[in-house]
Amino acid sequence: MDERRINVLITGASRGLGRALAAALAARGARVVMVARTRGPLLEAVRAIRDEGGDAHALVADVGEPGAAARIAGAAAAMVGPIDVLVNNASALGPVPLRPLGETSEAALDEVFAVNVRGAFALTRALVGSMVARGRGLVLFVSSDAAVEAYPSWGAYGASKAAADHLARVWAAELDGSGVRVLAVDPGEMDTRMHADALPDADPATLARPEAVAARLVALIERPVTAGVRVLASSVAEVAS
Ligand SMILES: NC(=O)c1ccc[n+]([C@@H]2O[C@H](COP(=O)([O-])OP(=O)(O)OC[C@H]3O[C@@H](n4cnc5c(N)ncnc54)[C@H](OP(=O)(O)O)[C@@H]3O)[C@@H](O)[C@H]2O)c1
Repeated sequence: MDERRINVLITGASRGLGRALAAALAARGARVVMVARTRGPLLEAVRAIRDEGGDAHALVADVGEPGAAARIAGAAAAMVGPIDVLVNNASALGPVPLRPLGETSEAALDEVFAVNVRGAFALTRALVGSMVARGRGLVLFVSSDAAVEAYPSWGAYGASKAAADHLARVWAAELDGSGVRVLAVDPGEMDTRMHADALPDADPATLARPEAVAARLVALIERPVTAGVRVLASSVAEVAS
């Protein structure tokens, strides 16, 4: 992180990776705006960071709702000022147990894409102009290996992550030379509620702790802005070690 305090907006920040990343960045002096749909757990996550002396703010919103992006962007700017780092982390899995594409309804596909693709797109579009105007910034899309591997029953989620990866790739090309980086990073398997919802029989001992993955993402975020932009749609273990 540079000498200036950075302002970070993280979606899906009331638990799991988003919460761990918010706590790690706040501990290093960032102001963090934390978004989730459910007020109670979000306020608890914010309070825990504040108790440690961190600068954290709760923003209750559903990123999959049409029109949410403008409201989130406006509220976040009012809370902390211009956003330097956007982390598109909130994600919909679709109905669980996960099911083959032939048993996936159009409504379920729409719901997954509304959060993972349209929501991330709309929020990025709402914030990136200000980053470009300031000649600095980072947009991080949290991806998944389901974006590249054809896992049976992960079709809706995987297709949405592939689409989000490609948004990141094109955005990175369009912002080349602007000083704004756009990255898509696969965090790997983590011991979180999403993982438990999808794969309830998995042994938590085989999964990474979200705090460990967050530490790697912090290293990635703190890398100095280089000329141009890069997209790293690979594992966070590779890009941040
Ligand atoms: N866990 C893994 O093994 C794994 C593997 C690969 C990739 N990932 C990716 O890592 C990211 C974080 O996942 P996680 O495992 O940390 O998930 P998690 O523990 O289930 O946390 C999800 C967070 O997102 C919020 N959220 C969900 N839908 C939202 C919406 N529509 N609008 C706003 N907030 C929303 C949740 O709070 P509310 O429910 O209250 O909104 C919660 O704060 C996701 O992008 C996921 O796809 C995870």
